[in-house]
Amino acid sequence: MTDAVLRPWSEDDLPLLEKLMGDPDMMAHLGGPETPEQIHKRHQRYLQLPETDYMFVILWGPNSGVAGSIGYWEKNWRDQLVYEMGWFVFPEYQGQGIATKAGEAVIEHARREHRHHFMHAFPSVSNTASNAICRKLGFTLIEECQFEYPPGNFMQCNDWRLDLFKS
Ligand SMILES: CC(C)(COP(=O)(O)OP(=O)(O)OC[C@H]1O[C@@H](n2cnc3c(N)ncnc32)[C@H](O)[C@@H]1OP(=O)(O)O)[C@@H](O)C(=O)NCCC(=O)NCCS
Repeated sequence: MTDAVLRPWSEDDLPLLEKLMGDPDMMAHLGGPETPEQIHKRHQRYLQLPETDYMFVILWGPNSGVAGSIGYWEKNWRDQLVYEMGWFVFPEYQGQGIATKAGEAVIEHARREHRHHFMHAFPSVSNTASNAICRKLGFTLIEECQFEYPPGNFMQCNDWRLDLFKS
């Protein structure tokens, strides 16, 4: 199977973010689509991330098609600094294992960084695909929890955790 190639977020990626975050279907489990202003701000943020945070574009296939985005960032969770991970794959690329492959590459990246012990993911309990990805990536299900995303919107999520210091 092909590997997902990750490249860092760039100036030219605003249209990609608009296609991801502006789409009600893509954002169904994430509190609904963002406004153009929110997307623009997010793009600027992705271009100036602190050195602890990473956002990548997923390239896939022989033509290096833009399949989606994936990233991880530092988060304070239960009084501990951890990493949180999130992913998006465009509908025309879904169902080929791309998010899982990209997730493997991100975990390798985070392991090389060796900064935090744990990587978490917080998919909504109803996000079947994302919960399946966590399981396939070797995360352990810790508990169901209330998770605020975006600010002001509380979702019922699963807290999945992966030990980055054990391979
Ligand atoms: C979640 C998402 C990234 C999955 O991308 P993908 O590349 O299709 O995922 P994969 O092909 O690696 O599939 C992973 C698993 O999910 C399953 N899956 C994929 N799409 C599914 C769907 N719509 N419903 C149920 N299961 C699904 C696959 O069958 C696979 O499990 P399996 O190998 O045991 O069969 C994509 O659907 C997406 O971008 N959704 C919108 C954004 C989002 O919800 N992001 C997650 C925030 S935590």
